[in-house]
Amino acid sequence: MSKKNTETFTLIDNSSGKSFELPVIKGSLGPSVIDVRKLYAQTGYFTYDPGFNSTGSCESNLTYIDGDIGRLLHRGYSIEDLAEKSDFMDVAHLLLNGDLPTPKQKKSFVHDVTYHTMLNEQLANFYRGFRRDAHPMAIMCGVVGGLSAFYHDSTDIYDAHQRMVASFRLIAKMPTIAAMAYKYSIGQPFNYPRNDLSYAENFLYMMFAVPAEEYIISSVMTQAIDRILILHADHEQNASTSTVRLAGSSGANPFACIAAGVAALWGPAHGGANEAVLKMLEEIGQKENIPKFIKYAKDKNDPFRLMGFGHRVYKNYDPRAKVMQKTCHEVLKELNLNDPLLELAMEMEKIALSDPYFVEKKLFPNIDFYSGILLKALGFPTSMFTVLFAVARTVGWVAQWKEMIEDPGQRIGRPRQLYTGHPERDYIPLEKRR
Ligand code: SDX
Repeated sequence: MSKKNTETFTLIDNSSGKSFELPVIKGSLGPSVIDVRKLYAQTGYFTYDPGFNSTGSCESNLTYIDGDIGRLLHRGYSIEDLAEKSDFMDVAHLLLNGDLPTPKQKKSFVHDVTYHTMLNEQLANFYRGFRRDAHPMAIMCGVVGGLSAFYHDSTDIYDAHQRMVASFRLIAKMPTIAAMAYKYSIGQPFNYPRNDLSYAENFLYMMFAVPAEEYIISSVMTQAIDRILILHADHEQNASTSTVRLAGSSGANPFACIAAGVAALWGPAHGGANEAVLKMLEEIGQKENIPKFIKYAKDKNDPFRLMGFGHRVYKNYDPRAKVMQKTCHEVLKELNLNDPLLELAMEMEKIALSDPYFVEKKLFPNIDFYSGILLKALGFPTSMFTVLFAVARTVGWVAQWKEMIEDPGQRIGRPRQLYTGHPERDYIPLEKRR
């Protein structure tokens, strides 16, 4: 969509009395931006925003979030509509190519993804180098980074065809790599991908099939996994996406960039939160303990945080969490499962959302609060929760990386700093140091 310079922003330096006119750029939705690209050259000042609370790092037309009202759009389509009416391949095509696919486009897109799901057989040897109890995210970091050593014919980022092939390879191979990490951790043989299955069916098959018997694909589980993948596909300039963009801005190959994204996603403040939520709920154990944990979360001196609560952008309910909670209820009912952790989570949500601390700080459940309960119901071990997040977010990472590479104004990302270290000082030889 178009962007346009509208008015300017006047900055007055009170120490010198000078004023500076900075251009304001208006997008299609959301806050306009003050263009500070020439600020340092004009004023000798840097801006300062360590957590990037108020900083736009790029222009993008992939995903729009309105955190105040809890709204999430992908290329203009609401996450609620996409989760309800689309499948993950629709959303992948939408993010990568700009619109929902026509039936012909979808057939071709799904074919191209399907026929890239196999891994070079030598990559299976990577797994044997890990301990069986290695965290699957550690394996993902290693194996995804290792793809650069195998797929040399799709590492030239300035060749549009190679960028397209690398995009398909990454989206297609992540479920295979993820499922192999799980199989390795439980000592079961790897399953090869099957071209007769959909993306979600294939992922479940590779995760849970065993050679000893036929694997029956559950439509309930398939639909739930597909919806979870949609909900995690992309989310504007979050920490791992920004990592992928920064790595890509140096010209690193796409496999290395996505490996960097996997590493950034692993943190419990980001994609690792779903695993942390389940551990927190299991530690809380029963409703009677909730007030104690809420108290810990409110205590400034206690590092404990209510995992799955709060968000840098959402100051309202994360719309993905609403869909996730609804899907939780549907799946547990259809699988005839009763997980007390769901009741516990809902009770915790109720108590927290009526507590002034959470209300004043606008801390609502985020996508990670319910996803762990749903993944547990689908048979995923806690250690695989963030891996699934990485599988889904690879679509967003690749789409954001592609958008950055194709931006004619793209330059290497190189932030500056506020230096508070020593001024220059004379060297002290070893014999004189006391
Ligand atoms: C994801 O960016 C994205 O879009 C990420 C993501 C995506 O799709 O890519 O949406 C996925 O990462 C979701 C977030 C998952 N993380 C968690 O659930 C971990 C628990 N949440 C927090 O750690 C925290 O809320 C963050 C990291 C999510 C947001 O951190 P911010 O924006 O830096 O907020 P903050 O730490 O400055 O907190 C503001 C205040 C603080 O109190 P004060 O210092 O102002 O007194 O709120 C408090 C915090 O102490 N606070 C919490 C809290 N989260 C924030 N207090 C208790 N429990 C919490 N969960």
